[in-house]
Amino acid sequence: MKIGVDYYPEQWDSSLWKADADLMAKTGVKLVRIGEFAWSRLEPKDGEFCFEWLDEVIKTFSRHAMGIVLCVPTSCPPLWLYETYPDIIRVDADGKKLQTGIRAHRCINAPMFNYFAKRIAEQLAQRYANDPAIAAWQIDNEIDAYPCTCEACQGQFRDWLTEKYDTLENINSAFGNSVWSGNYSDISQIKPPNSYPRAWQNPALCLEYSRFSSDSAIRFVKDIALVIKKVNPKAKVTSNLCFCDNMPDIYGISGELDFVSYDNYPPLKRDDKADEKLSAAFCLDFIRGAKQKNFWIMEQLSGPTGSWAPMSPAPRPGQIKGYAMQAMAHGADTVMFFRWRTAVSGAEMFWHGLIDHSNVPGRRFAEFAELCKLAPKLSVIETTELVSEIAVLYSSDNERAFDIQPQTEGFDYMKQLEAFHAAFTGYGANVDIVSPRTDLSKYKAVVAPAMFVYDKASAENIYRYVIKGGTLILTARSGVKDPVNNCIMETLPTVYREVIGAVVKEYDPIGIEEQTITDFAGNKYKCSRWCDILELGTARAYAEYADGFYKGSAAVTMNRYCSGVAYYIGTVCGSDFYRKFASNIMKQTGIPRLKDLPEGVEVTTRTNGLDDYIFFFNNSENEASITLPKEMPSIIDGSEKSDLKLGPFDMEIVRK
Ligand code: GLA
Ligand code: ZN
Repeated sequence: MKIGVDYYPEQWDSSLWKADADLMAKTGVKLVRIGEFAWSRLEPKDGEFCFEWLDEVIKTFSRHAMGIVLCVPTSCPPLWLYETYPDIIRVDADGKKLQTGIRAHRCINAPMFNYFAKRIAEQLAQRYANDPAIAAWQIDNEIDAYPCTCEACQGQFRDWLTEKYDTLENINSAFGNSVWSGNYSDISQIKPPNSYPRAWQNPALCLEYSRFSSDSAIRFVKDIALVIKKVNPKAKVTSNLCFCDNMPDIYGISGELDFVSYDNYPPLKRDDKADEKLSAAFCLDFIRGAKQKNFWIMEQLSGPTGSWAPMSPAPRPGQIKGYAMQAMAHGADTVMFFRWRTAVSGAEMFWHGLIDHSNVPGRRFAEFAELCKLAPKLSVIETTELVSEIAVLYSSDNERAFDIQPQTEGFDYMKQLEAFHAAFTGYGANVDIVSPRTDLSKYKAVVAPAMFVYDKASAENIYRYVIKGGTLILTARSGVKDPVNNCIMETLPTVYREVIGAVVKEYDPIGIEEQTITDFAGNKYKCSRWCDILELGTARAYAEYADGFYKGSAAVTMNRYCSGVAYYIGTVCGSDFYRKFASNIMKQTGIPRLKDLPEGVEVTTRTNGLDDYIFFFNNSENEASITLPKEMPSIIDGSEKSDLKLGPFDMEIVRK
């Protein structure tokens, strides 16, 4: 594993650069990310480029054989650019321009912004893309698919729709515009959704606008990557992804990157929900699934987080090191910490780095230094990856369509993915989170939660998987919408009726009310949010409703279909149900289970095809003991281990 840091030379007096580089080198830092927000220092005036300081920074760090991750600073254009071309600023849903002097407030569709963004990228590439010190390029920062409503976006959205639908009549018909006299008689009437409650707006228009915004972000990343690759086709290009409100389609954007990188801030503070798990495991598996490859952490938790919200608690002893190793356990080979030293000025001065404002390295830095010492011992892991027998399918269309029309109080698409992920990983299994269009044949079990919006390729892929012998788990609110986000005029779950061998006779959107289901073995579980009342065709009941007016109707079904099996869960349950259900599925499909893992212990396996390395991470504040079935050598200290004693946030890695 390689350890790096994020560094902002433009925020410090140049007299600090050398001392910082010396300490980094002494500590074992191998990579430094720079330049992310430095446009105004790189191009202080239109066309006046100033790279000498960056030359010096690169020299200062590469002298110590540290690799440089150089950023294309398009997230923060300089003020002169806003003044000259006021149209490059983002416009919010109410038509109000965002404030200048913040960040990510530029419109990635504004033509003049694109011109200047490509120019600065080209200048940087010409100067540095063939410099061996540059390990990788980061495009922009946490790029999002903000639904900007500026003139450029409106015009390009109309073109985007025309390209897709050809004529205005087709758009009217696809959007169902006869409802509420919404027919467009002229293309100029097509407007982005605004801040008026979503419930009043056309769901088809809302979904198409978010797809358009996502395509715009992907196009932008692709254009900038091309600028760099034109100068050096071998340059490695990434963009640091994060789970933000307007995330571009993760599979689309990752397709433009040589490798995926991610900003990893594991939660340090529980929301009020008692059953919420404090773990980054789900997000890390999600990110690995983006390209189904190992990835980098571009920003890793270094201290109390703050600035955007009241400050979080400080990372507990063990968390700085442990959470970096947890990322590795899920497929990260490089972990870069945000940030070396906490900023003393600007909006982010309370989002803490490894070193506090005082510039005196403290407890957190000492733990980081320990990690740097350990990292070279883990190089054997770098040639390994996670191989999973279980997949959970994610689709941005589904997520967005549920955001546009939340189904009932408490019904949460992402929480369902998380519930299945938690259930299977709770038995120590690797779990992939992947696109419904990906090749599923390698999985023994595939969970497809709430496949709300129909996508032909995904549905065919899912059928192919079951026909060839796969085990599918589908859940309520599948097959509801056509690709444009209108309801399908067929009995639910429409396209999936055949594979599940049952139909939804009626549904009861119970929201936060609770009911009970009983499974075939007589176990009782609470359910809520949604109840599909199922009528069996070829399927058998796995669980039935135990109360209410549909008492005795099937709530969960199981159907043999061709060589495979399809389960349908028509309601939403608590973790006890999913845990038992996952256990049954694993038993039937022959996926090994670790049954008695202590609370908080997370287990994953990385393999190179010959050797398997098992990671035991104690993601809790209590000590945990695990007995291995036989003695196994530890990668961390080389000794043979059969009884593991893990302190809070400790990681042990053994070779199987
Ligand atoms: C994000 C950004 C960073 C920084 C951190 C902490 O992850 O990418 O630039 O702002 O948040 O605030
Ligand atoms: Zn715009």
